[in-house]
Amino acid sequence: MSQMTQDELKALVGQAALAYVVPGEIVGVGTGSTVNKFIDALAALKDHIPGAVSSSEASTARLQALGIPVFEANTVGELAVYIDGADEIDPAGHMVKGGGAALTREKIVAAQSRRFVCIADESKVVRTLGAFPLPVEVIPMAAARIARQFAALGGDARVRLKDGVPLVTDNGQHILDVTGLQISDPLAFESQVNQWPGVVTVGVFAHQKADVCLLGTPGGVKTLTF
Ligand code: 5RP
Repeated sequence: MSQMTQDELKALVGQAALAYVVPGEIVGVGTGSTVNKFIDALAALKDHIPGAVSSSEASTARLQALGIPVFEANTVGELAVYIDGADEIDPAGHMVKGGGAALTREKIVAAQSRRFVCIADESKVVRTLGAFPLPVEVIPMAAARIARQFAALGGDARVRLKDGVPLVTDNGQHILDVTGLQISDPLAFESQVNQWPGVVTVGVFAHQKADVCLLGTPGGVKTLTF
C-alpha cells in the first residue's frame, strides 16, 4: 500500500464511498478529481439508485455520460447523503472547499442532504484551516471591496484567472482566492464573511461540515466520524 499514488488513493476512497450510497435513494454528488473517481465507481450501482443531484456542470456531464440520471435540486426533497471532496479538513470535520470553483452549488446540495461524506487523501488534513487559498464566490462588482475586507483580516485576495481572464463560475460569478488567513473559528468566520455584501458563498464549510471523512492513507481507508 505504501507505494500508492495520490491518484490511487483517490480511487480507493471513491470506491469506499459506495458503501454510503443508500439503495433506492438519490445521491448528492460533489465536484473534483476525487469525486470523479466516485462517479466512475457509482456507475456499478446505477440500477440501484434513481440518480443524482449534481453540484456542477462538470459532474453532471460525467454522471450523464455514464448513464446516471441527474435531477434538478428543486425537483427533489431531502437527500440521504452527499459525497464530495475537500481542499482541507480539520479535526472537527470543518472544511475548505472550492478549489474546483463549485463551492456554491456544493454548499446547496450539502445543505439539502442529511449526511455529508467527505472523501479525501490524507494530504488534505490540517490542524487549522487557511493554508489552502480560501475560495470565495463573489458578485464581480463587489470583488475589490471584498478584497479590502479580507486585507483588514490579514488576507490577500486575488481574482482567480483562467486563460488570463477572470474565471466565470457555473453561476456566472467570479472567485477570489484568499491567502494568509488562519481560520481558528470556522463557524464564526463563515457567518461573518457570508454577511459581506456581494459574497455569494465563502468556501468554509463549517455549518455544512462533514459527518464522516473517508481518508485515503498508505495503510488503506481510514474512517473519521465527527
Ligand atoms: C471543488 C471542490 C473539491 O471538492 C475540492 O477542490 C477537492 O478537489 P480534488 O478532489 O480534485 O482534490 O471543492 O469545488
